Amino acid sequence: MVSQTGSIPRSFIENLLARADLVQVINQRVPLKKAGATYKACCPFHDEKTPSFNVNPSKQFYHCFGCGASGDAIKFLMEYDGLSFVEAVEALAAQYGMEVPREKLSAKQQQQQQIKQQQQRDLYDVMHLAAKFYRHQLRDHPAAEEAKQYLKNRGLSPEIAKTYVIGFAPPGWDSLMKGLQADAKLKQQLIEVGMLVEKEGGKLYDRFRHRIMFPIRDGRGRVVAFGGRVLGDDQPKYLNSPETPIFHKSYALYGLYEMRQTREKFDHILVVEGYMDVVALAQFGLRNAVATLGTATTVDHLAMLFRQVNEVVFCFDGDQAGLKAAWKAMELSLPLMENERSVKFLFLPEGEDPDSMVRKEGLQAFQARIRNALSLSEFLLQGLQSRLNFPVHSIEGRQQLVSLAQPFIQLAKGLYQFLLVEGLAKLVELPTWRLEKQMNVYSGFAGAKRDVKPAKQGVSGVRKIVTLPLKLVRILLKRPVWAEFFPEKFAEDLLKTTQRDYQVLGGAIKSIMEHSFVADAALYWLTQNGFQAELELIQQSELPDDDAFLKAEFDVAIVALAVAIDEDRLGRSGWDLTEMIKLQSLASEK
Ligand code: UTP
Ligand code: MN
Repeated sequence: MVSQTGSIPRSFIENLLARADLVQVINQRVPLKKAGATYKACCPFHDEKTPSFNVNPSKQFYHCFGCGASGDAIKFLMEYDGLSFVEAVEALAAQYGMEVPREKLSAKQQQQQQIKQQQQRDLYDVMHLAAKFYRHQLRDHPAAEEAKQYLKNRGLSPEIAKTYVIGFAPPGWDSLMKGLQADAKLKQQLIEVGMLVEKEGGKLYDRFRHRIMFPIRDGRGRVVAFGGRVLGDDQPKYLNSPETPIFHKSYALYGLYEMRQTREKFDHILVVEGYMDVVALAQFGLRNAVATLGTATTVDHLAMLFRQVNEVVFCFDGDQAGLKAAWKAMELSLPLMENERSVKFLFLPEGEDPDSMVRKEGLQAFQARIRNALSLSEFLLQGLQSRLNFPVHSIEGRQQLVSLAQPFIQLAKGLYQFLLVEGLAKLVELPTWRLEKQMNVYSGFAGAKRDVKPAKQGVSGVRKIVTLPLKLVRILLKRPVWAEFFPEKFAEDLLKTTQRDYQVLGGAIKSIMEHSFVADAALYWLTQNGFQAELELIQQSELPDDDAFLKAEFDVAIVALAVAIDEDRLGRSGWDLTEMIKLQSLASEK
C-alpha cells in the first residue's frame, strides 16, 4: 500500500533507474546467465523450457521473446513481486539507499503526512514485536507444551510453523502487556492495532489469550493482524484482529506473502477458507494456497490474485453455504474474465475441508481434484440449469434459462461474454444473434447495434454522459494520491448531495483516502454501493498513463468543478469556490 502521498518527481524516478542495476535486481530473483552482451534466463512470466527472457544491461531493459514481457527495473518489481508502482519505486530506492522525495504538498500537509507515516511505521513495529513474542512463548512458555502437542496432532512440523511464524498466546489477561513491558505509549499503540482491549473504566486486557497465533502478513511481509485459534473446541474457535489503520480485511489474503517467498512460479492460486487449510496444504507441499479471513471474497482480493497468476481456483465446502459463497465469487469474477484469465470452482465432499482432504487422500489426489475443478462457465450454466422448473430442452425450460442467465451474461465483458452467449445459445437451441438481441449484448461486429433502450441502466433512469465528477473519478483511479487535494469535508458533503455523480466522486475520494490511496478501494466502494452503471461509464475509456496529460486534465476538471459546484449550490460546510480554486493552484504547483 502507498505509504506516502504527494507524487514522486519524475526526475527522481529517472535518477533511480539510472542508479539501479537491472541485472542485479533480476538476478536476486531469477538467476541470469551471461550470453554475450546480454543476460538470459527462462522467463519468469510464462512457462518455458528454453530461455527467451533477455536482460540488456546497457539499455537497462528486459524483454521476453516468448511472451513479450518487457520493461525496466520498476516494471520488473511490479510484475514479479506483485507491487504497485509506488511500492516498486520505494523498494528499489531502499535497495540503493535512496530516499523517495515527494512533491506538491504544502509544508503543513507534508508535516502531517510525516507524522501519520511515522505512526503507521510504529504500528508495524508493534505488530512485529507481538509476533516475536508469541513465537517465543510457543518455544519457552511453561504452558506451551499443550500448544506444541496440538500443532503436532494436527500434523504440522516445526519447520512449517516457523515459515508461517505460528506462535502461542499464553493464558492470562496480561501476558502480552507484561511480556512486552509496555509503557503508556506502547499500550496505546497496542490498543490501536487491536492487540489490547480497553474495558469500561479504562482497564486493559490482552485480546488474544490461550490461543495458537497465526500472523497475517501484507504483501511486503509486515505483520498487520493475527488470527488466534483455541486449542480445544471452545467458541469462538478463531478470534481475528479488528480492522485497524494497518489492517483491512477485504485486502488481506492469508498465505500470499508466504507463497511469494517460495519464489516458485505458479500457474494458479487456490483460494481456501481457513488458516489451517493454507498451512496444512503447505505442509503437504502445496504452497500456492491462500485464505480469505473469514469474509467473502472481494474484488480487491481478485485483483490481487490476478496480479500474481492467470488462474484462480476457489475451493469450497460442498454444503449449501459453500455453494452460496461460490456463486458470489462467480459473480465477482465474471467481469474480470479477460485475456488468459480463468476461474475454477472446486467443491469438496460434505464435511471435508482442504486440510482434512489432503490428509485423507494425499497431495496427488488433491491436485487431481484441482485439475478437474469446474470452470466458471460450467459452474454458471450447470447452476442455472439446476434452478429450472422444466426440462432444459422444453420451450419453458429454454425460456427460463435465458431469463435466468441474462443478468450474469451482462456482467461478463468482451469475448468472454460472447462465448457465454454462444454456449447458452447451443444449450437452448437458438441462433447466437437471436440470443444477443434478446439479452441486449453485442459482440461488436459491424452492423450490430445496441437497442435504443439499453437493458442496464443506472438507478436514476436515463443514462448517460460522462459528467465532470465522473471524469474526475476516472483521473483519480489513475492517480489515487491526488485524492489528497480535496478538503476534508468535501467528500462527506458530496455524499450527502442528491446528485448521483457527485456521490460517486465523494465515495471515490473517501474510500481512496481511507484505504491508503489504493484505487481499487474506489472500485470496490462503487460496486458495493450500487454505482455499477457509473463505474461502467467511467471505465468505458481508459486515460493514457502519462503524468503531464493527467495533471492537465485534473487541473482543468478541478476549476470546472469549482464553478459547477458554485452554480449548483452544492457547497456546504466550509468549502467553497475559493477553496476549490486554491486547491487547483496547489495542484498545479510544480
Ligand atoms: P473453519 O472453521 O473452516 O477454519 O473456518 P479451519 O481453518 O478449517 O479451522 P480448523 O481446521 O478447525 O482449525 C474458516 C475460517 O473462518 C474464519 C477463520 O478465518 C477460519 O480460518 N473463522 C472461523 C473465524 O474468523 N471465526 C470462527 O470462529 C471460525
Ligand atoms: Mn479445518
